Amino acid sequence: MHTSQLDSNALNTLESKDHEPTVYLNGAFLPLSEAKVPVLDRGFIFGDGIYEVVPVYARRLFRWPEHLARLKRSLAKIRIDNPYSDSQWLALIESLIQQHPWSEQFVYLHITRGVAKRDHAFPKASKPTVFAMTSALQAVPQHVRREGVAAITLDDQRWLHCDIKSISLLGNVLARQAAVDADAAECIQFRDGQMTEGSSSNIWLVRHGEVLGAPVDHRILEGIRVGLMETLCHGCGIGFRNAAISREELFQADELLLTSATKEVLAITKVDHKPVGEGKPGPVYHRLYEAYQAAIAANGANPQAIR
Ligand SMILES: Cc1ncc(COP(=O)(O)O)c(C=O)c1O
Repeated sequence: MHTSQLDSNALNTLESKDHEPTVYLNGAFLPLSEAKVPVLDRGFIFGDGIYEVVPVYARRLFRWPEHLARLKRSLAKIRIDNPYSDSQWLALIESLIQQHPWSEQFVYLHITRGVAKRDHAFPKASKPTVFAMTSALQAVPQHVRREGVAAITLDDQRWLHCDIKSISLLGNVLARQAAVDADAAECIQFRDGQMTEGSSSNIWLVRHGEVLGAPVDHRILEGIRVGLMETLCHGCGIGFRNAAISREELFQADELLLTSATKEVLAITKVDHKPVGEGKPGPVYHRLYEAYQAAIAANGANPQAIR
């Protein structure tokens, strides 16, 4: 039996038994409904914490070293001591993956400054809260891949530390809801007239066969797919550049793309209700999507890829 068939059978069995996912909380694996955090946790009170989302293909983590490096950067930027060693992180995540039936998953990691009396300043002593869960990674439906998605443009109203993968996501939540309210899948934000990013994705413009992304600075989250796009472009002989991108340039793009851990690379074919280029996923999208799938296949084929 093919593994993906095995996985979907296993999933059906689990669903029919109303099986609950297992999650990790502060050193223990337990059913989701039993995982409880005190209301004075600073994640709940202040959104004082960071997170990561790591895709898993064929039960192997994809780009784990890069995700771990970003997790450490986010922790350092908000001055939370990394609670675990690299091998402890890997062991807990691998255990979580193995406790679930899906071949493709996405692992969510969440670290807060812990529980303390409510006061804005850091508590003198607190122990970080560490939560982790995994979910089935649903492939983007074929008709969405064929047609692409709609986006709207929006002023970026978030704070100026978007490089931190903070759990304080209100700005991103409101931005995504504005897109949903306009029947779009994502928004494309602009700060001071320059493109930044989506509510939960990085955005790419294709012009004359070249891929352009926003400058990587405090105004955007450096997606793990930012480095990957550069690598894939080089591998495909496609030009790649970071540049300031205006609204006018966005509307003149031949193609627009978004990238994220769960959407991989996806074509944006409508922006503010107007077609992008020819209004369908273009040749650069197709080449990068193929290259992305090849990178996933290579990850599965190479045991060294999981570290
Ligand atoms: C604001 C924002 N930008 C970019 C990304 C893409 O990052 P990655 O490629 O690591 O998923 C995300 C992912 O959630 C995000 O929330």
